[in-house]
Amino acid sequence: MTYNFDKIIDRTGSGDLKHEVLEERYGRSDLLPLWVADMDFETPAFITESLRQRLNHSLFGYTVVPAELWETIIQWIKDHHQWTIRKEWLTYIPGIVKGIGMAVNVFTKEDEKVIIQPPVYHPFRLTPKGNGREVVYNPLKLREDGSYDMDFEQLAEVTDEKCRLLILSNPHNPAGICWSAETLRRLAHFCYERNIIVISDEIHSDMALFGYRHTPFARVSEEAAQCSITFGAPSKTFNIAGIVSSYAIVPNDSIRRKFYTWLEANELNDPPLFSPLATIAAYQQGEEWRQQMLRYVEDNIRYVEDYCRTRIPLIKPVRPEASFLVWLDCRALELSHDELIDRFVNQAHLALNDGAMFGPGGEGFMRMNVGTPRSILHEALERLYHTLGI
Ligand SMILES: Cc1ncc(COP(=O)(O)O)c(C=O)c1O
Repeated sequence: MTYNFDKIIDRTGSGDLKHEVLEERYGRSDLLPLWVADMDFETPAFITESLRQRLNHSLFGYTVVPAELWETIIQWIKDHHQWTIRKEWLTYIPGIVKGIGMAVNVFTKEDEKVIIQPPVYHPFRLTPKGNGREVVYNPLKLREDGSYDMDFEQLAEVTDEKCRLLILSNPHNPAGICWSAETLRRLAHFCYERNIIVISDEIHSDMALFGYRHTPFARVSEEAAQCSITFGAPSKTFNIAGIVSSYAIVPNDSIRRKFYTWLEANELNDPPLFSPLATIAAYQQGEEWRQQMLRYVEDNIRYVEDYCRTRIPLIKPVRPEASFLVWLDCRALELSHDELIDRFVNQAHLALNDGAMFGPGGEGFMRMNVGTPRSILHEALERLYHTLGI
């Protein structure tokens, strides 16, 4: 079966965030949106069919979680990431950002701190802050070639005994980094020794590109397994973010007891009816679609790279090792933050995520979502060329 990723889906009337909040967020609605991280590809038919089958039943009362859900997730992770997890380590959570918020509340007191490594997915900062916790920054080190490293010397300097959590984006959003086992092991050792729990957000883990591999944090060492909470979901990979089908994996007994008791008490581990159905369909039937989607995304990334090299040379795309987000290095344009946004929004009529929103180190970058039909991507690049090209 060959899937068609060139097909343009008119999202009008679906209430999608990507289009509906342009006026509110960017001050105008005549923009081509390549921002929030869902894709413009049609959700695959094996998922919609599975949901439709259930819709054919005319009663949507309380339901039990199908046992197949856990077996399916366990098998997927074993097959794709060579990580063997036990059923009791797993639970449903109602979204990964919500999972972060819940972990912040369960594992930190009000005067305690959360470490993040910017530039990074902005809810890592907003969620602890919104809960009144101090956020400690350990900015990533940007190398000459545009790749990033974790800064362990700096991490030792910024960490004190009030730091209780570190939130890790693995793979990393926005720069698309597949962290090496060695880096993760070092991070695990650092955190384990200091009793810091690592929340490893692995939502982008099933989208490694160009031959890179995702390494689950908890798999790299016993220390990593014993100091971590991993969050995962099929939502990004299969374009079903609106269905909310995330899960947590906690190998350590005492962290798990504390977290899962709290989730259970508040019934936050109880999935809504359609969520397990979508996850089961995605993980049992989605491998071929996933492979084809990733090849299409890789071609889109090459398309952006070639286009920028020849026509917009002052914008340098950082090649992602995972996922459909391209981190555009726009620093050579030598524009201020406001000027850069003005060029993209008011002149090119594009809605991207500006790098500064991801925290220190993001200034001068823009994040472009290339999970879109090539014709839309082409149109976006043309608009950029007419505004910023040679
Ligand atoms: C790293 C990362 N974590 C979490 C999310 C959102 O997950 P959820 O919708 O389950 O809260 C995103 C969405 O862009 C993301 O990039």
